[in-house]
Amino acid sequence: MSLATVILAAGLGTRMKSDKAKVLHPVAGRPMIEYPVAMARALGSSRVICVLGHQADAVRAAVEQRFGAGSIEVALQAEQRGTGHAVLQTQSLLGNHEGLVLILYGDTPLLSQQALERLVHGASSSTLTMMTARLPDPRGYGRVVRDGSGKFVRIVEEKDASVDERRIDEINAGIYCGPARFFFDTLQSVGANNAQGEIYLTDVMERAARELTVVTISAGADEVMGCNDRVDVAKADRVIRLRLADSLMRAGVAVRDPERLYVEPGVEIGRDTALGPGVELRGKVKIGAGCVIEQGAVITDCTLGDRVHVKPYCVMSESTVGNGAQIGPWCHIRPGSVIEDDVHLGNFVETKKTRMGKGAKANHLSYLGDADVGAKVNVGCGTITCNYDGYVKSKTVIGDGAFIGSDTQLVAPVTVGAGAVTAAGTTVYRDVPPGALALTRPEIVFVEGWAERKRQKMLGLAPPKAAAPKVVSSKKEKKKIGKAKPKKRRRG
Ligand code: UD1
Ligand code: CA
Repeated sequence: MSLATVILAAGLGTRMKSDKAKVLHPVAGRPMIEYPVAMARALGSSRVICVLGHQADAVRAAVEQRFGAGSIEVALQAEQRGTGHAVLQTQSLLGNHEGLVLILYGDTPLLSQQALERLVHGASSSTLTMMTARLPDPRGYGRVVRDGSGKFVRIVEEKDASVDERRIDEINAGIYCGPARFFFDTLQSVGANNAQGEIYLTDVMERAARELTVVTISAGADEVMGCNDRVDVAKADRVIRLRLADSLMRAGVAVRDPERLYVEPGVEIGRDTALGPGVELRGKVKIGAGCVIEQGAVITDCTLGDRVHVKPYCVMSESTVGNGAQIGPWCHIRPGSVIEDDVHLGNFVETKKTRMGKGAKANHLSYLGDADVGAKVNVGCGTITCNYDGYVKSKTVIGDGAFIGSDTQLVAPVTVGAGAVTAAGTTVYRDVPPGALALTRPEIVFVEGWAERKRQKMLGLAPPKAAAPKVVSSKKEKKKIGKAKPKKRRRG
């Protein structure tokens, strides 16, 4: 029978104490609503209908951002008058659906696919299935009432339950599957005669127990948890992260401390890659084999090759990294960076929209923005691209094999030719021909004896017999550098 899925997610979730609808709160980095939608798709559901109310547009946008426009249909429930009332809002969309309907909640992200498959496979035109679990602490959930022979009779909400019924530890997970027609027919006639004055979906199951067959499917206690407040969200977050760490380890990834690995569903990591504590992988992250990602690296939407070494506390986003590259510690790889094979980036190096060619190095304290850095270029300590004049961003191009001396400022747009050298401290404001030396350097002077005189003065000591201060210019220095005299700038 064809399967349609209804996801109930209209509530605000008052217990979250938030301005944001409950199902938009992230669990393991993903808005809670993504989990049931992903599950419905994995189960081969032909249609996915979300019942939305609070912040319906934002919830729909979140789902469509992940699964594409038109991936879900939306039924609006303006006023939240209970779970049964919520399902009734889908009647105009599903009234003619001859197959099964699976009902999921937006706030139950831990369900396993296996348990849901059992639920769906057990249902038929004459059988409704519902998911239950035994909990050490069943408080807050509807309880499953059975007769003397153990046959399902009905669900009683905690608020409507007697003292005896509250002792029942088998709870209703709120997940059901059965013929769509039966749900709609029954919901027409169940009232709202209960402690909350709501139309309860659970009442459908009581009717089904009398008129059709009800089969309960039991799930693990850690699958059925509904997230009602932030404590629940943190618990669910942890369960999902540990599951993801588990499956990574089973696939050959070394995880130093699974409790402190923050990954999202969908990350891909090759075998023999090792992840340190506090590593966070967000969005679409693909990491090759044999990599080492050390403590505290936060990587968002990046693709890394094989044997990449990311040292502690790097932040990387929307970039690609080639095989054998070494990054960090404390590197900031900003969007649009293309770090090719065997590149080395050391501490406090920031890149943005920059290609680092194969084997290039920038080992200390640099900003490389809007730059194209050729293969085997050596970028000295403290080099910066001056890529922004307050109005527009400009590009810096550095040819293969160039040597950029320490503390070079590259005033973009500018090109340094292949194999050229810039002297330490040079401000490169014109294109450097290939193979040339670029040098801008004010003359150095020495004031002889100055330091000693200063010391005497500060310590209140008798001044030594003063020789006239002698200023020595750096002729020797000039000789050393040779004929490459810097061009004098014109005045004014
Ligand atoms: C419900 C069940 C309870 C079960 C529990 C499992 C009923 C009457 N009770 O209780 O037996 O043990 O789930 O988690 O069904 N929603 C709407 N519109 C509404 C009301 C709710 O869309 O008018 C949505 C909520 O946004 C939420 C889901 O339905 O995603 C569940 O609603 P909630 O109020 O949390 O139900 P519980 O009181 O937890
Ligand atoms: Ca709930």
